[in-house]
Amino acid sequence: MANVKFFNGQSFPLEMHKVRIIQKLNLIPIEARQEAMAAAGNNTFLLKNRDVFMDMLTDSGVNAMSDRQLAAMMLADDSYAGSETFERLDKAVNTLFGTRYFLPAHQGRACENLLSQIFVRPGTVVPMNYHFTTTKAHITLNGGRIEEIIVDEGLAVTSTFPFKGNMDVDKLEQLMQRHGREGVAFVRMEAGTNLVGGQPFSLENLEQVSAVCRGHGVPLVLDASLLSDNLYFNKLREPACAGMSLHQITLRMAELCDIIYFSARKLGFGRGGGMCTSNDEHFRRIREMVPLYEGFLTYGGMSVREMEAIAIGLEETLDPDMISQGPIFIEYMVEQLLQRRIPVITPPGGLGCHVDARAFLDHIPQNQYPAGALASAFFIASGVRGMERGTLSEQRDENGHEPMADMELLRLALPRRVFTLSQVNYAVDRLAWLYDNRRLVGGLRFTEEPRVLRFFFGKLAPVTDWQNDLVARFRTDFGDSL
Ligand code: F0G
Repeated sequence: MANVKFFNGQSFPLEMHKVRIIQKLNLIPIEARQEAMAAAGNNTFLLKNRDVFMDMLTDSGVNAMSDRQLAAMMLADDSYAGSETFERLDKAVNTLFGTRYFLPAHQGRACENLLSQIFVRPGTVVPMNYHFTTTKAHITLNGGRIEEIIVDEGLAVTSTFPFKGNMDVDKLEQLMQRHGREGVAFVRMEAGTNLVGGQPFSLENLEQVSAVCRGHGVPLVLDASLLSDNLYFNKLREPACAGMSLHQITLRMAELCDIIYFSARKLGFGRGGGMCTSNDEHFRRIREMVPLYEGFLTYGGMSVREMEAIAIGLEETLDPDMISQGPIFIEYMVEQLLQRRIPVITPPGGLGCHVDARAFLDHIPQNQYPAGALASAFFIASGVRGMERGTLSEQRDENGHEPMADMELLRLALPRRVFTLSQVNYAVDRLAWLYDNRRLVGGLRFTEEPRVLRFFFGKLAPVTDWQNDLVARFRTDFGDSL
């Protein structure tokens, strides 16, 4: 995005790219949306994309690629071993992070699987600023336990704190002393902390975390999947980073960590993932696992075309015009929602706009899944597909106890460079209508509840027939409009 002054004094996001390929969208009538939602068991993951107008489920693998990325895909060398494509991606990753070794994997959670198998032993603990769903699942599957030690501000829904993804360094030090080097598998810092609203950590905080880890000889692992958003905020909000280039900030972060992994469905705007390190021992241990679970060392389960696209995408991550588009659109959307008094996470972060479902639907108890109910109601009202990020995204413990999430969020992701400002305005308008009619929305209950990662394929039903009332009100207010 560009920093342009407008003649009328007002400002709005101005894109530094143009659209050259489009995909047609459908907006089906509200009655059809209600039917689609029922068929999907009120789980937005189970909707068919043909029934969706704006897909704000995720930014994963759905960012718009650049012309340079698409062109690079045509040059892919698909040899099983030793392909030139791998050399290009290897160089791009190691140049970006200043590391020595790159190990490919088919996506981010594949890296989490390998790292958990290597480092996590039954009874060990993995301190982290905050968990991500797949991360926690892999660590617990290997008998480990996570400890979330995000700073207190991180869980405050509304705040002006610029780095809500920071780790509480005192708590980290205490954990290290309590569990000792043997009891801590590794420490994990997540850039652009996903589940608390795409919130960044500061470079200063990473420096402090790294000092504690090095003091105790415990590896520090960086999840860099959402690094581009984090970098944008470091540059904007952290005085010490103002004079540094995006690449200098990245190199400094990498120096502070022992292993970096990422989902290239986010970082690099492609579909894939990988890990990098400069440590010979870590490299050797991870290398043994890659051919076993992912594919040979020069593709790791990725398509070579995607690898070419990722190599260019990683280069473009250092272009301020490119990486500012997501956060600036999100900031615009958050401001529009705040003007309409809709409760939303502040300050605006990366990845998407996060509506506070607990405040939006304060009449729905947490065990009736307010964030899931809001995702369902919003799809019916608008054709916009968001994602529940609350109690449904948790899973029961071994005793069948259901933990309540810290936050109940409806995440409306803004895949980078995909939507126009008028589409964002449409989503804001329909959410404002739903807020006015929020008392019509009721809770959900499970009809099918999987044991692991239940949010992906569990099915739910409304506890009353509130969805019919919502559709009737829509027709009263909007006539025969879509
Ligand atoms: N780490 C973070 C911070 C993520 O956001 C994700 C994925 C992963 C790891 C796993 O990577 O999907 O390539 O296996 N986040 C997606 C999302 C799924 O919608 O937020 P993956």
